[in-house]
Amino acid sequence: MVLFDNCYSFYELLCVTEKNKNKQMNKRLLIINSGGDCPGMNAVIWAIVKRVTQEDDWEVIGSINGFDGILSEPFNIEMLDRKKVSGIHVKGGTILKTNNKRNPFSYPVLQEDGEIKNEDLSDKLILNLKILRVDAIIHIGGNQSHKISIELHKKGVDIIGIPKTINNDLSITDYAFGFQTAAQVATDAVDKLVTTATSHNRILILEVMGRKAGWIALHAAIAGGADVCLIPEIPFSIDKVVKKIKSRYVNGKGFANIIVAEGACPKGKVCEIIPGLNARKLSAELKKHELDADIRETILGHLQRGGTPNAFDRILATELGVQAVELVLNNTFGVMVAHQQQKLIPVPFSQVIDKDNQINLNGNLIKTARGVGISFGD
Ligand code: F6P
Repeated sequence: MVLFDNCYSFYELLCVTEKNKNKQMNKRLLIINSGGDCPGMNAVIWAIVKRVTQEDDWEVIGSINGFDGILSEPFNIEMLDRKKVSGIHVKGGTILKTNNKRNPFSYPVLQEDGEIKNEDLSDKLILNLKILRVDAIIHIGGNQSHKISIELHKKGVDIIGIPKTINNDLSITDYAFGFQTAAQVATDAVDKLVTTATSHNRILILEVMGRKAGWIALHAAIAGGADVCLIPEIPFSIDKVVKKIKSRYVNGKGFANIIVAEGACPKGKVCEIIPGLNARKLSAELKKHELDADIRETILGHLQRGGTPNAFDRILATELGVQAVELVLNNTFGVMVAHQQQKLIPVPFSQVIDKDNQINLNGNLIKTARGVGISFGD
């Protein structure tokens, strides 16, 4: 406390701490986002703050822009109380901002010669956590974020993870918040594309996100009724796709809707995932075949990450936030809160990053899609 005895610092946080002294708060929880944003990130912050502030001896702060807030000079941190988070759970984005290029173990640092080099700033981070008297961290993130958590935990940081991703590619948890909203956005897009495809007898290609997993594509394909769905889990043949499209046209009449995941890849090829590329590549390939219809591409992009979380994601984010606080209060660290068979389970980080959660090719969703005639191009 010696460092913070006077309330004249530029740190708003320290001043608040001074005021909070009367309430004998002596424990501090830090929230850090990392990775891409997704719907529900505000709801999870809201839940954490609501739960922690029921404890007399705890206060909560947030790091702005991922690990930047703790690594920048001066610190960029925000005191979080009930007033600050009031009503944010229904809003998209995140009041704390986030960043997918700020790994403290490989952090971009401006050098004297003007170059930017990545450096390991984890020791500096740990020192700063001590200066700020942080007792525990809740880290909200996806696959890459939990790899950071595991390393920080090895270095003695008391940290807990919360799963967030639109991709649904986190193993161990049945759900991560953000996915259901993104799948709905993709489905809404398919619904709209079907109408215009029909009006013009066109072939419309919709590219959706998902990295190495085809969850968004598959959900939107079934819910919206696509004819072809190309996902990373099933390498496709362009000839099979062409065959399916041709079957959709009789005497020049008909239409076809194709959903392609950003991670989908043709058989026998190795593909780098470059968002926005697959729809164009597929369109160019199809144009080489004699298809008597216009082809147009739509790249759904970041619409899948923005906007209001749906009820499912709000509730899931709230459940995960409250449970993470319970674990902090019980001194349980080095885990991510997973949702398994309707239960909230603390899973060690080492198990979380073991493998990507890809679609089970023998599971119900694939069978269902095939059952209603959706082609995977295989
Ligand atoms: O991981 C979430 C995600 O939206 C992926 O689906 C996508 O490939 C990537 O992030 C896009 O990242 P950025 O916002 O940095 O372009």
